[in-house]
Amino acid sequence: MTLSVHSAVVERLRAAGCVFAEDEADLLLAAAAGPDELDAMVARRASGLPLEHVVGWAEFGGLRVTVDPGVFVPRRRTEFLVREAASLAGPGAVVVDLCCGSGALGAALAASLGRVELHAADVDPAAVACARRNVGAAGGRVHEGDLYAALPETLLGRVDVLLANVPYVPSDEVALLPAEAREHEARVALDGGSDGLDVLRRVTADAPRWLAPGGRLLFETSERQVPAAVAAVTAAGLVPRVVTDEELYATVVVGARTGA
Ligand SMILES: C[S@@+](CC[C@H](N)C(=O)[O-])C[C@H]1O[C@@H](n2cnc3c(N)ncnc32)[C@H](O)[C@@H]1O
Repeated sequence: MTLSVHSAVVERLRAAGCVFAEDEADLLLAAAAGPDELDAMVARRASGLPLEHVVGWAEFGGLRVTVDPGVFVPRRRTEFLVREAASLAGPGAVVVDLCCGSGALGAALAASLGRVELHAADVDPAAVACARRNVGAAGGRVHEGDLYAALPETLLGRVDVLLANVPYVPSDEVALLPAEAREHEARVALDGGSDGLDVLRRVTADAPRWLAPGGRLLFETSERQVPAAVAAVTAAGLVPRVVTDEELYATVVVGARTGA
């Protein structure tokens, strides 16, 4: 591709309001098989489709994760949750990625830990199909259904690491999200109910039945939600701990089942 093609793409992206137009142009130029595809990709991006949906993948935890249309784009911030989980588990761990979306978290944790028994689950069939490619590549299995109902009962009391990046945006704040999320990610991936913690409370309440002694539940939350999220963890009989990463602006709550 010539410099003028690159400049033209940058110009179109800038005009559409893309803040990182230069970087995005590099990615689109690398992804397109030819001028026609490049033109179509730039048009889709300029119309507001998330870059990850245009190219079909996102970078997460050092992996290139497939992200299908409508499926939640894994956020770089969430790499902190995976790092925290990796520090708590070792090879051979039983890992469940609940509300898995693309399956990025489980796949990245498996890549970091080496051999694990990995299960992922989501209620959205589009997410499940997408996760099957990412989690399958990591040697894991993906189940479809509502929270724990999707999981095989053989996992009861055996889960060492329960990742649960559930939807946690309060319902009346979904409309305030950037258009990329609002218009191109499924509502079920974003809306956490009136205070944003409805799905989370269901996850915490049942977590002790699925966790192994000493196992941990990890989820992301907003700073504002920490007191209520910690209360939900405590009410379930787990021991809470809050960790933050200022650079990524990420807050993670860890709930430990005692008795290791
Ligand atoms: C915020 S997205 C996170 C996806 C993924 N964990 C990530 O961080 O990239 C939340 C995911 O939860 C799923 N979800 C919402 N409610 C669910 C439920 N009741 N049971 C299973 N999955 C659910 C959505 O389909 C969506 O994929």
